[in-house]
Amino acid sequence: MAVPLIQRGGTRLAVMALGGVSLIGGLGAALALVGIPIADGASRLASVHGPLMVIGFVTTLIALERAVSLRKPWAFAAPACTGLGGILLLTPVPVAAALAVQCVGLAVLVAVYSRLWDRAPSVPVGVQWLGAVLGLGAGLLWLGGVGTPAVLPWIAGYLVLTIAGERLELSHVSSPPPSAERWLLGLAALLALAAPLSLVVPSGGSELVAVGLLGVAAWLFRFDVAKTLVRGTGLPRFAAANMLAAAVWLAVAGLIWLVTGPLNGAITYDAVVHSITLGYAMSMIFGHAPIIFPAVLRRPLPYHPVFWVPSVLLHLSLVVRVSSELRAWGVAWQAAGVLGVLAIVVFALTVISRVLIAGREAQARNEERRARIAARAAREETGVQDRAEVPEHAAAPDPDPSHEEQNNHEGSRA
Ligand code: HEM
Repeated sequence: MAVPLIQRGGTRLAVMALGGVSLIGGLGAALALVGIPIADGASRLASVHGPLMVIGFVTTLIALERAVSLRKPWAFAAPACTGLGGILLLTPVPVAAALAVQCVGLAVLVAVYSRLWDRAPSVPVGVQWLGAVLGLGAGLLWLGGVGTPAVLPWIAGYLVLTIAGERLELSHVSSPPPSAERWLLGLAALLALAAPLSLVVPSGGSELVAVGLLGVAAWLFRFDVAKTLVRGTGLPRFAAANMLAAAVWLAVAGLIWLVTGPLNGAITYDAVVHSITLGYAMSMIFGHAPIIFPAVLRRPLPYHPVFWVPSVLLHLSLVVRVSSELRAWGVAWQAAGVLGVLAIVVFALTVISRVLIAGREAQARNEERRARIAARAAREETGVQDRAEVPEHAAAPDPDPSHEEQNNHEGSRA
């Protein structure tokens, strides 16, 4: 039976590649933003760095994973539109048109969560639905020309709730207490209220968002299974370490934001933005890649200790970036920005090379198995022929060489 288009690994890979293009564009924009001359037209590229990274790359990954779990063809419109909109951002097409396409993708993502809720209502799905609504709000505000400092509470709420909701879904394996669900639901409600409030009352609303971020960080430390798994080995340890580091960066963002207040024109703007986007969101993506990618792409991505390399680079770059920004060390901040880009490039290359190596190993194993089966079939066939030609009593090998000699003599005599 033919495999439906959306079930094929190749189709999903193509959708993920759309997000990959946004990532490449977003990293180019990041270099331009830290003052590395990259190409003509870099100012347009720099101006769309946020939507490229948050919607074009991160949302395409999230929406693809959700579409795969819903298993409905229309759900794939979500990652397709967020990815396509990202590509349009890299072309001379008006930015508003590209953002509009991305907003369609975000609206479909909200619909995907609604269907998942209809199927099986649960706190994790409800929290992720609220997150997606905030994401759609962020997209619409960007489309309406609102500046990113005012959109940031929406972006933060979106990324934080989507990922924390997924963590709660995963931790169902180890049955978290009902209070874990109640707390996360309360924090989700707080963030969902604080984001619109911060638009109307920036001073006060922003601090409330910061309290929400600190709350989710504390929730992760208190309830997430990562605390236990980090004492293990291999993949569980790697994923848990990234999760805990992500929670630390979320707390850093919350603390700085709480102290600074509204971020418009604040010297700490970059530190807060990237503690959330790089420290929290990218760290979670790094940690979950060997778990999520094989399920989505239907290709093996076995864990290998080399995954630690981009992870360490990422967190090192952020430590230097945040501390140099707070102390106004321009060159160190610039170097840390480049190191952050390098960390993501090394991560992408690690994933691609591990997928290729694992694919080749799986192919070699399959060929070996096929050769073994063919050899066994050939042996059985020869055995059947031998048994058909040779009288049954003569079919068994005779271990005594003297008998063979005797047989030969008998043969010559005959
Ligand atoms: C990998 C290294 C990265 C570098 C070097 C970098 C660099 C920058 C810089 C220099 C700014 C401007 C900050 C300011 O105006 O004070 C910025 C803004 C921003 N970045 Fe990044 N970034 C990186 C990764 C990311 C990632 C992975 C995301 C999202 C997932 C992201 C999301 C944003 C957003 C939302 C803004 C605000 C955009 C705006 O003000 O218009 N960045 N980035």
